[in-house]
Amino acid sequence: MSTVPPTESPLHTIDLIRKKRDGLALDAREIAFLVAGAASGTIPLEQLSAWLMAAWIRGLSLDETRALTLAMRDSGEKFDPSPLGKTAVDKHSTGGVGDKTSFLVAPIAAACGLAVPMISGRALGHTGGTLDKLEAIPGYRTALSLDEFEKVLTYCGASIVSQTPALVPADRVLYALRDRTGTVESPGLICASILSKKLAAGLDALVLDVKTGSGAFLRKREDAEYLAALMVATAEAAGTKTVALLTDMGQPLGRAAGNWIELAESVELLRNQRAPESEDLRELSLILAGWMIHLGGKAATPEQGIQLAEAALEDGSALAVFFKMIETQGGDSGVFEDMGGFHKPGATGVLTAWRSGFIAEMDTTQIGWAVQRTGAGREKAGEPVDAHAGIEFKARRGAKLEQGDTIVTLYATNEAMLSEAMDLLKKAITIEDAAPDAIPMVSRVFTRENAEAYLRDAVR
Ligand code: URA
Repeated sequence: MSTVPPTESPLHTIDLIRKKRDGLALDAREIAFLVAGAASGTIPLEQLSAWLMAAWIRGLSLDETRALTLAMRDSGEKFDPSPLGKTAVDKHSTGGVGDKTSFLVAPIAAACGLAVPMISGRALGHTGGTLDKLEAIPGYRTALSLDEFEKVLTYCGASIVSQTPALVPADRVLYALRDRTGTVESPGLICASILSKKLAAGLDALVLDVKTGSGAFLRKREDAEYLAALMVATAEAAGTKTVALLTDMGQPLGRAAGNWIELAESVELLRNQRAPESEDLRELSLILAGWMIHLGGKAATPEQGIQLAEAALEDGSALAVFFKMIETQGGDSGVFEDMGGFHKPGATGVLTAWRSGFIAEMDTTQIGWAVQRTGAGREKAGEPVDAHAGIEFKARRGAKLEQGDTIVTLYATNEAMLSEAMDLLKKAITIEDAAPDAIPMVSRVFTRENAEAYLRDAVR
């Protein structure tokens, strides 16, 4: 007698919403159903919103987070780096103010023989965006097809582009909904959103830079640690070697926060010009690149990776990759010949110290909003940004100031925006009699082993 294989019962969105609402975990098939419905538009937005809110309130288990990440990764087209014949590595940062490490780590890792397929984002709210910064270069194209992306990577080793419309379409729908339904700040949803986009690039290895401190997306340290451990365990389970570094965003990274001025600061470092106010940026970039090089198999330890990274900076090979990438993507690298001459802000102003003392604190989220008000950032997705606006720090946390010393130079689209940004900045910087304690750049590293142990112990 022949046996008939059992058929799976059809799924209904309302049942899955109820299940999550009641605190039960969905299985991989149920999650894949919701994600497919989000990507194709067959599940109405009100039902997706209800499920997102249930997931936000109840939390997602590790298995649900993993299933959601993989289903989202597989919801559209993917990039296959295998024809490149190199190990594909990338870095992702949870965002901050003045964070321009991509412009250093991508060419450094490529100069060390790795492929860096970097799909980046835009400025939103108080944080800057890699794509907006690159678009300050006349002609630079961020919207490449996956075929063009592969060609640039073959020729240059690194390519920094925007997400194609067909890559991870489920995230486009779910992220926009989360933004409108108060469901952004959920570790499982954040993890799936970030990793689905990174894993769709077919990465062999990934270094995550999870920010802590006053400018970080997740303000509470334990939230940042949990997200870091969750992302490492989830990406490792998907077959991508991953580490996460908890790094300081208690002040802007480097001295510039804006679009063109961040590129200019990065190119200075790629040229081995070392302004003291850019040393933290150089340090973090070398640490991140060192891990990329190590995970990519080009160095036995992260420390050896840092040495290789430093050599690629010092011998000019990383700079050569960066300029080659810019030119291959249509950009005019000639603008870097006279970086000051190219910089044409609408209005310029200076904030000076109102008393003598030490810079004790920088409210970096407020500083990020001040940068946005200069015209460099955007409040709502789709708004234009000013390539030449931004803020340049002459003094950082711990600096000793005499009354009247310059703290920052501001560049804005116009005088009104300048004074708005100036007001925000004054409130964001605290000057006190005593110097603050130094904060280490990297406070914790999560690898697969300690991430899994952390998650086992975490009570969530
Ligand atoms: N960045 C993302 O891409 N997704 C999130 O959910 C949060 C930050």
